[in-house]
Amino acid sequence: MSLSNRLIIFDTTLRDGEQSPGASMTREEKLRIAKQLERLKVDVIEAGFAAASQGDFESIKSIAAHVRDSTVCSLSRANDRDIARAAEALAPAERKRIHTFIATSPLHMQMKLRMEPAQVLEQAKLAVRFARQHTDDIEFSPEDGSRSEEDFLCRVLEGVIAEGATTINFPDTVGYAVPEMFGATIKRLRERIPNSDKAVWSVHCHNDLGLAVANSLAGVMIGGARQIECTINGLGERAGNTALEEVVMALRTRQAYYNLTVGIDTTQIVAASKMVSQITGFAVQPNKAVVGANAFAHASGIHQDGILKARETYEIMRAEDVGWTANKIVLGKLSGRNAFKQRLQELGIEMESEAEVNAAFGRFKELADRKAEIFDEDIMALVSDEETAQ
Ligand code: KIV
Ligand code: ZN
Repeated sequence: MSLSNRLIIFDTTLRDGEQSPGASMTREEKLRIAKQLERLKVDVIEAGFAAASQGDFESIKSIAAHVRDSTVCSLSRANDRDIARAAEALAPAERKRIHTFIATSPLHMQMKLRMEPAQVLEQAKLAVRFARQHTDDIEFSPEDGSRSEEDFLCRVLEGVIAEGATTINFPDTVGYAVPEMFGATIKRLRERIPNSDKAVWSVHCHNDLGLAVANSLAGVMIGGARQIECTINGLGERAGNTALEEVVMALRTRQAYYNLTVGIDTTQIVAASKMVSQITGFAVQPNKAVVGANAFAHASGIHQDGILKARETYEIMRAEDVGWTANKIVLGKLSGRNAFKQRLQELGIEMESEAEVNAAFGRFKELADRKAEIFDEDIMALVSDEETAQ
């Protein structure tokens, strides 16, 4: 079957993101974020884990009642009680998905579940069969997939697809995967499983080695996955998940290479990032791709000069396209005359001659040696000091 070139963006900020130690959110806060995710036009919002707590149950229910444009999803372990709870919380949703999972790696089966592989296989199939009674949109994840044995994975995934799973999500639960290998594993699984094309394949990558975005893209390009699970600001258990803003902007910026489309309204990215950061109290590092304060800031004279001549010289995407009001020329000791002159113009300061500009630029450089960043107020003061001295 030929693969679609539409990629599904599945956001799990409210579920896996909340698993970041210290990132718990109230029901109202989760609803605010869910509405922003809807504005961002994510395809699926994983709103929580209904059986985990009464609070999570209530949050999912309220999101299910208020979100109309995105599918709302709840996580559940592979047992009837969890699944029934997920279905109950999702009842008000226009479009609902149940996401059920069970671990399939030898380590997790032996040490955590204390179950035989045959029991895990049976439980996975029964869970999907039961979930199908509540909705026909069922996602199944073999937890710790990237450390599971392939033959066993094939049996489990073929079994759950036969029971009606419509999305197969392949998780790199502990961020152990590396890109080419991860993509190739998904490709082999899809080739070996006879009914694999009855489901959409998905990737869910953790960032323990800083490879979550790269692994997700390899899962798509090499493996043929058509759903990416991600979170705003890369929030998530331990080192976090694939960052939505990074993976979406990689696909957009390199569209000619990927030839894949996403439904995301990228101009809502910065608002989503700021909201999640404010609510969780997790600051975004200044040099964070796309949403960091410095992501579109230029400090060196050579770069500033290039940007003022043509933004493409040092910008691969537009700040405005992800929701910043503009890019930023930061004036400091590395800045050149051109950037300084431009700022004078923006501030409405007119100089009578080039000699005057040069003199002001000299004073600016002196100040910049003493002060890390020069603000507009500093420039105004610098110019008015000179006027007073004349
Ligand atoms: O990381 C993981 O394996 C998960 C699953 C529940 C999909 O979050
Ligand atoms: Zn996860």
